[in-house]
Amino acid sequence: MQSGKRPVFGNRHLTDDSKVFQHNAWDNVEWTEDQENQAHKITSDQTENAMTEESQQKYLENAASFWDKFYEKHDNKFFKDRHWLFTEFPELIATDKKTLSPDDSEIELQKQTYEKTKKENESEDTVLFPVKCDHESPNKLLQADLPGSNSSLRYMEIGCGAGNTIFPVLNVTQDPNLFLYACDYSQTAVDLVKSHKNYDTSRCYAFVHDISSTDQQFPMPEESLDIVIMIFVLSALEFKNMHSAIQRIVKLLKPGGMILFRDYGRYDMAQLRFKSGRCLSQNFYTRGDGTLVYFFTQEEVRDVFTAAGLVEKQNIVDRRLQVNRARQIKMYRVWVQAKYQKPTL
Ligand SMILES: C[S@@+](CC[C@H](N)C(=O)[O-])C[C@H]1O[C@@H](n2cnc3c(N)ncnc32)[C@H](O)[C@@H]1O
Repeated sequence: MQSGKRPVFGNRHLTDDSKVFQHNAWDNVEWTEDQENQAHKITSDQTENAMTEESQQKYLENAASFWDKFYEKHDNKFFKDRHWLFTEFPELIATDKKTLSPDDSEIELQKQTYEKTKKENESEDTVLFPVKCDHESPNKLLQADLPGSNSSLRYMEIGCGAGNTIFPVLNVTQDPNLFLYACDYSQTAVDLVKSHKNYDTSRCYAFVHDISSTDQQFPMPEESLDIVIMIFVLSALEFKNMHSAIQRIVKLLKPGGMILFRDYGRYDMAQLRFKSGRCLSQNFYTRGDGTLVYFFTQEEVRDVFTAAGLVEKQNIVDRRLQVNRARQIKMYRVWVQAKYQKPTL
């Protein structure tokens, strides 16, 4: 089931198989039953040949240090800036008009809605976005010395990596009211973010935090964030820790606040390519570099967020066929994208 309308992205459909190599990518590709069965068979075989619990320990216990090594090796060169963010998540765009392409009507519409909501709420001195709430001003809720305590709009990215999401958001919005928090459990990743030329302490604050740890404290108080961004991060957690991690994050959201989520989907090409012996448990793997990855169904994503009391605004499977035209190779990508909102009181 698909919920939530999908804007802008996803408009090139493959209707004639003979034309598959005419473009680099095709959107919303239907899978045949055969293909689905084949994927099921591959993943069942992987699970049957899963590694022993003893061998798993190395990856589970040292998960953050494998990511440290990853960033030591790749620096900030591995992930590309997430420029699709603003077509998939127009909620992220705040008030600046200058940087948007004028013909992007969907984004413009979202911005107008934002500004209208903001105006309506300003008169009541309440939290501004995405919906008004009856709490006292967020400025009063935050400790004065916490970076971002004077901002009226606060986002946090979890698992920020080298900053391929936060820097595009900072560049595109330019909203002086917006403050961005960014956390990652890899110290090396956080150091990369802090040493980036666009890291501006008046607009953002990066810190080390492990979302699967129930002992650690977030630096900001409950109900202080408007948006939490989770892009390819939940998949790095053990399935059994996902619910508690999301519950901790939900406490930080203001009523009306949103979680914007995108992650690996079940039977993505990356899953089907795992060799025997890389599987820890069903749909959960370790890559060659020791980092961990889970592949979600829509229902699993729905379950983890709605169990934490959030309301579903979008939950879609993005199936894309990427094509290497030179080598005539077809790559079937699957991602789950979702938006969940904390109910207003
Ligand atoms: C696939 S990378 C994605 C990075 C970034 N979100 C992006 O899209 O470019 C996953 C990131 O999540 C971080 N991560 C994994 N598990 C985490 C946890 N339990 N707490 C905080 N960060 C975590 C990793 O260190 C890594 O930087």
